[in-house]
Amino acid sequence: MSYQSAETTVEDDFFMKKFKYYKANKPKPSLSAVLFPENVDKQDEIVPTMPNKVHEDPRTRFLGLKTTKEWQTFYFPKRPGLILIKNPFTSIGQRYWIRKCLEIYPRKPNKLNIDIELTLSDWWQECFKNGECNKQLMKKLRWTTLGYHHNWDTKVYTEENKTPFPEDLSELSDVVAKYLGYSSFRAEAAIVNYYHMNSTLSGHTDHSEVNLGAPLFSFSFGQSAIFLLGGKEKSVEPSAILLSSGDIAVMSQEARLCYHAVPKILTASNFPWNENVSSIDNDVPNFKYIADSQVFLSALNENVDDIKWRDFENYVQQSRINMNVRQVLNDNQKYLTDCFINL
Ligand code: SIN
Repeated sequence: MSYQSAETTVEDDFFMKKFKYYKANKPKPSLSAVLFPENVDKQDEIVPTMPNKVHEDPRTRFLGLKTTKEWQTFYFPKRPGLILIKNPFTSIGQRYWIRKCLEIYPRKPNKLNIDIELTLSDWWQECFKNGECNKQLMKKLRWTTLGYHHNWDTKVYTEENKTPFPEDLSELSDVVAKYLGYSSFRAEAAIVNYYHMNSTLSGHTDHSEVNLGAPLFSFSFGQSAIFLLGGKEKSVEPSAILLSSGDIAVMSQEARLCYHAVPKILTASNFPWNENVSSIDNDVPNFKYIADSQVFLSALNENVDDIKWRDFENYVQQSRINMNVRQVLNDNQKYLTDCFINL
Protein backbone atom coordinates (compact mmCIF):
# COMPACT_ATOMS: atom_id res chain seq x y z
CA MET A 1 0.00 0.00 0.00
CA SER A 2 1.31 3.44 -0.78
CA TYR A 3 -0.12 6.76 0.21
CA GLN A 4 2.26 8.74 -2.01
CA SER A 5 0.40 10.86 -4.44
CA ALA A 6 1.57 11.34 -7.99
CA GLU A 7 2.29 14.95 -8.93
CA THR A 8 -1.17 16.25 -8.25
CA THR A 9 -1.72 19.72 -6.85
CA VAL A 10 -4.27 20.33 -4.10
CA GLU A 11 -6.63 22.00 -6.62
CA ASP A 12 -6.38 19.00 -8.97
CA ASP A 13 -6.77 16.41 -6.27
CA PHE A 14 -10.29 15.32 -7.19
CA PHE A 15 -9.77 12.05 -5.35
CA MET A 16 -9.24 13.90 -2.06
CA LYS A 17 -12.17 16.22 -2.73
CA LYS A 18 -14.53 13.25 -3.16
CA PHE A 19 -12.99 11.53 -0.13
CA LYS A 20 -13.71 14.58 2.03
CA TYR A 21 -17.22 14.92 0.60
CA TYR A 22 -18.19 11.36 1.56
CA LYS A 23 -16.32 11.43 4.86
CA ALA A 24 -18.18 14.51 6.12
CA ASN A 25 -20.86 14.23 8.77
CA LYS A 26 -22.09 17.82 8.54
CA PRO A 27 -23.62 18.08 6.06
CA LYS A 28 -24.14 14.40 5.42
CA PRO A 29 -23.19 13.45 1.85
CA SER A 30 -25.92 12.71 -0.68
CA LEU A 31 -25.80 9.08 -1.77
CA SER A 32 -27.54 9.77 -5.11
CA ALA A 33 -24.34 9.28 -7.14
CA VAL A 34 -23.29 6.12 -5.31
CA LEU A 35 -23.28 3.05 -7.56
CA PHE A 36 -25.26 -0.02 -6.51
CA PRO A 37 -27.51 -2.23 -8.66
CA GLU A 38 -30.81 -0.78 -7.34
CA ASN A 39 -29.84 2.84 -8.07
CA VAL A 40 -32.15 3.40 -11.04
CA ASP A 41 -30.43 6.65 -12.06
CA LYS A 42 -27.07 4.94 -12.47
CA GLN A 43 -27.91 1.85 -14.52
CA ASP A 44 -25.46 2.92 -17.24
CA GLU A 45 -22.59 3.01 -14.71
CA ILE A 46 -23.15 -0.37 -13.05
CA VAL A 47 -24.05 -2.99 -15.60
CA PRO A 48 -24.86 -6.70 -15.15
CA THR A 49 -22.47 -9.06 -16.88
CA MET A 50 -21.60 -12.72 -16.91
CA PRO A 51 -18.24 -14.44 -17.38
CA ASN A 52 -17.93 -16.19 -20.75
CA LYS A 53 -18.18 -19.71 -19.44
CA VAL A 54 -19.60 -20.35 -16.00
CA HIS A 55 -18.73 -23.79 -14.72
CA GLU A 56 -20.27 -25.04 -11.55
CA ASP A 57 -17.52 -25.37 -8.96
CA PRO A 58 -18.12 -28.25 -6.54
CA ARG A 59 -16.28 -26.38 -3.78
CA THR A 60 -18.90 -23.61 -3.38
CA ARG A 61 -21.05 -25.34 -0.75
CA PHE A 62 -18.00 -26.09 1.41
CA LEU A 63 -16.95 -22.48 1.36
CA GLY A 64 -20.29 -20.92 2.26
CA LEU A 65 -21.07 -19.83 -1.29
CA LYS A 66 -24.20 -20.13 -3.40
CA THR A 67 -23.82 -22.04 -6.68
CA THR A 68 -22.01 -19.93 -9.28
CA LYS A 69 -25.05 -19.80 -11.57
CA GLU A 70 -26.83 -17.83 -8.82
CA TRP A 71 -24.09 -15.17 -8.65
CA GLN A 72 -24.85 -11.64 -9.91
CA THR A 73 -21.88 -9.89 -11.45
CA PHE A 74 -21.52 -6.25 -12.51
CA TYR A 75 -18.97 -4.18 -14.39
CA PHE A 76 -18.44 -0.43 -14.43
CA PRO A 77 -17.99 1.08 -17.92
CA LYS A 78 -16.24 4.14 -16.43
CA ARG A 79 -13.91 1.97 -14.30
CA PRO A 80 -12.59 -0.76 -16.59
CA GLY A 81 -11.24 -3.75 -14.68
CA LEU A 82 -13.44 -3.24 -11.62
CA ILE A 83 -15.90 -6.11 -11.09
CA LEU A 84 -18.50 -6.50 -8.37
CA ILE A 85 -19.99 -9.86 -7.40
CA LYS A 86 -23.06 -9.08 -5.29
CA ASN A 87 -23.10 -11.23 -2.19
CA PRO A 88 -22.60 -14.77 -3.51
CA PHE A 89 -22.48 -16.08 0.10
CA THR A 90 -25.09 -18.08 1.95
CA SER A 91 -26.02 -16.68 5.36
CA ILE A 92 -24.11 -19.43 7.13
CA GLY A 93 -21.21 -18.71 4.78
CA GLN A 94 -21.16 -15.06 5.86
CA ARG A 95 -21.15 -16.14 9.48
CA TYR A 96 -18.28 -18.53 8.80
CA TRP A 97 -16.04 -15.86 7.23
CA ILE A 98 -16.91 -13.20 9.80
CA ARG A 99 -16.04 -15.62 12.55
CA LYS A 100 -12.78 -16.63 10.86
CA CYS A 101 -11.72 -12.98 10.64
CA LEU A 102 -12.40 -12.48 14.35
CA GLU A 103 -11.61 -15.76 16.04
CA ILE A 104 -8.96 -17.45 13.89
CA TYR A 105 -7.05 -15.08 11.59
CA PRO A 106 -5.88 -12.74 14.39
CA ARG A 107 -4.11 -15.67 16.10
CA LYS A 108 -0.35 -16.01 15.95
CA PRO A 109 1.68 -16.40 13.76
CA ASN A 110 -0.40 -13.85 11.85
CA LYS A 111 0.51 -10.19 12.39
CA LEU A 112 -1.72 -7.57 13.96
CA ASN A 113 -1.50 -3.79 14.25
CA ILE A 114 -1.57 -4.19 18.05
CA ASP A 115 1.63 -6.31 18.08
CA ILE A 116 3.71 -3.19 18.70
CA GLU A 117 2.10 -2.62 22.08
CA LEU A 118 0.84 -6.05 23.16
CA THR A 119 1.89 -9.59 22.41
CA LEU A 120 -1.27 -11.64 22.31
CA SER A 121 -1.33 -15.17 20.99
CA ASP A 122 -5.11 -15.07 20.66
CA TRP A 123 -6.71 -11.61 20.48
CA TRP A 124 -10.36 -12.78 20.41
CA GLN A 125 -9.92 -15.04 23.42
CA GLU A 126 -8.14 -12.23 25.25
CA CYS A 127 -11.10 -9.93 24.53
CA PHE A 128 -13.33 -12.30 26.54
CA LYS A 129 -10.88 -13.19 29.31
CA ASN A 130 -12.49 -13.36 32.75
CA GLY A 131 -15.93 -13.77 31.18
CA GLU A 132 -16.26 -10.09 30.27
CA CYS A 133 -15.98 -8.34 26.94
CA ASN A 134 -12.99 -5.99 26.82
CA LYS A 135 -14.41 -3.41 24.39
CA GLN A 136 -11.27 -1.31 24.44
CA LEU A 137 -9.10 -4.21 23.28
CA MET A 138 -11.74 -5.22 20.75
CA LYS A 139 -11.70 -1.77 19.15
CA LYS A 140 -7.91 -1.70 18.93
CA LEU A 141 -7.65 -4.30 16.20
CA ARG A 142 -7.45 -2.52 12.82
CA TRP A 143 -5.67 -5.08 10.67
CA THR A 144 -4.31 -8.59 10.52
CA THR A 145 -1.95 -9.77 7.79
CA LEU A 146 -1.70 -13.30 6.41
CA GLY A 147 0.79 -15.13 4.15
CA TYR A 148 3.42 -12.68 2.94
CA HIS A 149 2.95 -9.96 5.58
CA HIS A 150 2.52 -6.46 4.26
CA ASN A 151 5.26 -4.24 5.70
CA TRP A 152 3.55 -0.91 6.40
CA ASP A 153 6.85 0.99 6.59
CA THR A 154 8.95 -0.36 3.73
CA LYS A 155 6.02 -1.65 1.60
CA VAL A 156 8.33 -4.55 0.68
CA TYR A 157 7.40 -8.23 1.06
CA THR A 158 10.20 -10.58 2.16
CA GLU A 159 10.55 -14.37 2.47
CA GLU A 160 11.48 -13.90 6.14
CA ASN A 161 8.21 -12.13 6.83
CA LYS A 162 5.89 -14.87 5.64
CA THR A 163 3.68 -17.46 7.37
CA PRO A 164 1.34 -20.10 5.91
CA PHE A 165 -1.64 -18.68 4.05
CA PRO A 166 -5.01 -20.03 5.36
CA GLU A 167 -6.24 -22.91 3.22
CA ASP A 168 -9.91 -21.89 3.33
CA LEU A 169 -9.22 -18.33 2.15
CA SER A 170 -6.96 -19.66 -0.58
CA GLU A 171 -9.73 -22.00 -1.80
CA LEU A 172 -12.31 -19.20 -1.65
CA SER A 173 -10.09 -16.90 -3.71
CA ASP A 174 -9.42 -19.69 -6.18
CA VAL A 175 -13.15 -20.32 -6.72
CA VAL A 176 -13.75 -16.61 -7.41
CA ALA A 177 -10.65 -16.35 -9.63
CA LYS A 178 -11.67 -19.39 -11.71
CA TYR A 179 -15.23 -18.04 -12.05
CA LEU A 180 -13.74 -14.90 -13.63
CA GLY A 181 -11.39 -16.89 -15.85
CA TYR A 182 -8.17 -16.48 -13.85
CA SER A 183 -7.03 -20.08 -13.83
CA SER A 184 -3.60 -19.60 -12.30
CA PHE A 185 -4.33 -17.18 -9.42
CA ARG A 186 -2.56 -18.01 -6.14
CA ALA A 187 -3.60 -16.34 -2.89
CA GLU A 188 -0.29 -15.42 -1.24
CA ALA A 189 -0.94 -12.34 0.90
CA ALA A 190 -3.98 -10.83 2.57
CA ILE A 191 -4.81 -7.87 4.74
CA VAL A 192 -7.92 -8.18 6.88
CA ASN A 193 -9.13 -4.66 7.71
CA TYR A 194 -11.44 -4.03 10.67
CA TYR A 195 -13.51 -0.83 10.52
CA HIS A 196 -15.65 0.79 13.21
CA MET A 197 -18.48 3.16 12.34
CA ASN A 198 -16.17 6.20 12.29
CA SER A 199 -13.20 4.53 10.57
CA THR A 200 -11.88 5.54 7.16
CA LEU A 201 -9.11 4.29 4.89
CA SER A 202 -7.36 7.01 2.94
CA GLY A 203 -6.54 6.96 -0.76
CA HIS A 204 -3.78 4.59 -1.79
CA THR A 205 -2.64 2.20 -4.50
CA ASP A 206 -1.49 -1.40 -3.96
CA HIS A 207 1.72 -1.97 -5.83
CA SER A 208 4.03 -3.89 -3.47
CA GLU A 209 3.33 -7.19 -5.24
CA VAL A 210 5.81 -8.43 -7.86
CA ASN A 211 2.85 -9.56 -9.90
CA LEU A 212 0.72 -6.54 -10.72
CA GLY A 213 -1.15 -8.39 -13.47
CA ALA A 214 -3.01 -10.71 -11.11
CA PRO A 215 -6.33 -9.41 -9.79
CA LEU A 216 -6.93 -8.32 -6.21
CA PHE A 217 -10.00 -9.77 -4.45
CA SER A 218 -11.74 -7.78 -1.76
CA PHE A 219 -14.42 -9.45 0.40
CA SER A 220 -16.67 -7.30 2.60
CA PHE A 221 -18.71 -8.35 5.63
CA GLY A 222 -20.79 -6.65 8.30
CA GLN A 223 -21.70 -2.97 7.97
CA SER A 224 -21.60 -1.29 4.55
CA ALA A 225 -19.03 1.09 3.06
CA ILE A 226 -18.63 3.68 0.40
CA PHE A 227 -15.67 2.57 -1.68
CA LEU A 228 -13.98 5.08 -3.98
CA LEU A 229 -12.12 3.95 -7.06
CA GLY A 230 -10.37 6.51 -9.23
CA GLY A 231 -7.54 6.40 -11.73
CA LYS A 232 -3.76 6.03 -11.60
CA GLU A 233 -3.48 9.71 -10.66
CA LYS A 234 -5.30 11.54 -7.89
CA SER A 235 -6.49 14.06 -10.44
CA VAL A 236 -9.04 11.52 -11.69
CA GLU A 237 -12.42 11.96 -10.04
CA PRO A 238 -13.31 8.61 -8.44
CA SER A 239 -16.57 6.66 -8.64
CA ALA A 240 -18.31 5.86 -5.37
CA ILE A 241 -19.54 2.28 -5.00
CA LEU A 242 -21.64 0.84 -2.19
CA LEU A 243 -20.12 -2.33 -0.74
CA SER A 244 -22.47 -4.42 1.41
CA SER A 245 -21.98 -7.55 3.46
CA GLY A 246 -20.95 -10.48 1.27
CA ASP A 247 -19.93 -8.36 -1.74
CA ILE A 248 -16.74 -9.18 -3.60
CA ALA A 249 -15.00 -6.32 -5.39
CA VAL A 250 -12.32 -7.37 -7.85
CA MET A 251 -9.66 -4.94 -9.02
CA SER A 252 -8.24 -6.37 -12.23
CA GLN A 253 -6.44 -5.07 -15.33
CA GLU A 254 -6.65 -1.25 -15.54
CA ALA A 255 -8.26 -1.01 -12.09
CA ARG A 256 -5.51 -3.00 -10.34
CA LEU A 257 -3.22 0.01 -9.86
CA CYS A 258 -5.85 2.69 -9.35
CA TYR A 259 -6.32 4.86 -6.29
CA HIS A 260 -8.98 3.61 -3.92
CA ALA A 261 -10.23 4.46 -0.45
CA VAL A 262 -13.02 3.99 2.08
CA PRO A 263 -14.28 7.41 3.22
CA LYS A 264 -17.37 6.21 5.05
CA ILE A 265 -18.87 3.25 6.88
CA LEU A 266 -22.67 3.15 6.65
CA THR A 267 -25.16 1.30 8.79
CA ALA A 268 -26.25 -1.77 6.83
CA SER A 269 -29.86 -1.78 5.65
CA ASN A 270 -30.15 -5.53 6.16
CA PHE A 271 -28.18 -8.29 7.82
CA PRO A 272 -27.73 -11.10 5.29
CA TRP A 273 -25.69 -13.13 7.79
CA ASN A 274 -28.91 -13.57 9.80
CA GLU A 275 -31.37 -14.33 6.99
CA ASN A 276 -32.81 -17.89 7.00
CA VAL A 277 -29.76 -19.37 8.67
CA SER A 278 -29.83 -23.11 8.19
CA SER A 279 -27.22 -25.82 8.32
CA ILE A 280 -26.05 -27.63 5.23
CA ASP A 281 -26.21 -31.28 4.55
CA ASN A 282 -23.02 -32.92 5.73
CA ASP A 283 -23.52 -36.41 4.43
CA VAL A 284 -20.73 -36.09 1.87
CA PRO A 285 -18.24 -38.71 2.95
CA ASN A 286 -15.51 -38.16 0.40
CA PHE A 287 -15.15 -34.91 -1.35
CA LYS A 288 -12.06 -35.06 -3.49
CA TYR A 289 -11.63 -31.34 -4.13
CA ILE A 290 -11.00 -30.18 -0.57
CA ALA A 291 -8.97 -32.08 1.96
CA ASP A 292 -10.89 -32.45 5.23
CA SER A 293 -14.17 -31.48 3.62
CA GLN A 294 -16.00 -32.76 6.71
CA VAL A 295 -14.03 -30.28 8.82
CA PHE A 296 -15.18 -27.46 6.55
CA LEU A 297 -18.79 -28.56 6.82
CA SER A 298 -18.80 -28.81 10.58
CA ALA A 299 -17.06 -25.43 10.87
CA LEU A 300 -19.80 -23.92 8.69
CA ASN A 301 -22.61 -25.65 10.56
CA GLU A 302 -21.31 -24.56 13.95
CA ASN A 303 -22.56 -21.09 13.13
CA VAL A 304 -26.24 -22.04 13.07
CA ASP A 305 -26.35 -21.84 16.83
CA ASP A 306 -27.34 -18.25 17.65
CA ILE A 307 -25.96 -18.51 21.18
CA LYS A 308 -22.47 -19.46 19.95
CA TRP A 309 -22.76 -16.81 17.27
CA ARG A 310 -23.80 -13.99 19.67
CA ASP A 311 -20.39 -12.41 20.34
CA PHE A 312 -19.61 -12.26 16.61
CA GLU A 313 -23.05 -10.76 15.99
CA ASN A 314 -22.40 -8.00 18.51
CA TYR A 315 -19.13 -7.20 16.76
CA VAL A 316 -20.49 -6.98 13.20
CA GLN A 317 -23.51 -4.96 14.29
CA GLN A 318 -21.04 -2.13 14.82
CA SER A 319 -18.19 -2.91 12.45
CA ARG A 320 -17.15 -3.79 8.94
CA ILE A 321 -14.57 -6.40 7.98
CA ASN A 322 -12.73 -6.51 4.67
CA MET A 323 -10.44 -9.32 3.48
CA ASN A 324 -8.13 -8.15 0.72
CA VAL A 325 -6.37 -11.01 -1.09
CA ARG A 326 -3.44 -10.72 -3.48
CA GLN A 327 -1.03 -12.85 -5.48
CA VAL A 328 2.50 -11.63 -4.75
CA LEU A 329 4.70 -13.68 -7.08
CA ASN A 330 4.70 -14.13 -10.80
CA ASP A 331 3.17 -17.40 -12.00
CA ASN A 332 6.57 -19.03 -12.62
CA GLN A 333 8.13 -17.80 -9.36
CA LYS A 334 8.33 -19.83 -6.16
CA TYR A 335 10.11 -17.34 -3.94
CA LEU A 336 10.67 -13.61 -4.03
CA THR A 337 14.34 -14.32 -4.57
CA ASP A 338 13.68 -16.11 -7.90
CA CYS A 339 14.28 -13.63 -10.65
CA PHE A 340 11.92 -14.96 -13.26
CA ILE A 341 9.52 -12.69 -14.96
CA ASN A 342 6.20 -13.51 -16.58
CA LEU A 343 6.72 -13.76 -20.34
C1 SIN B 1 -8.14 -1.77 1.04
O1 SIN B 1 -8.05 -1.09 0.04
O2 SIN B 1 -7.12 -2.21 1.57
C2 SIN B 1 -9.49 -2.06 1.69
C3 SIN B 1 -10.67 -1.71 0.88
C4 SIN B 1 -11.96 -1.97 1.61
O3 SIN B 1 -11.99 -1.98 2.84
O4 SIN B 1 -12.99 -2.16 0.94
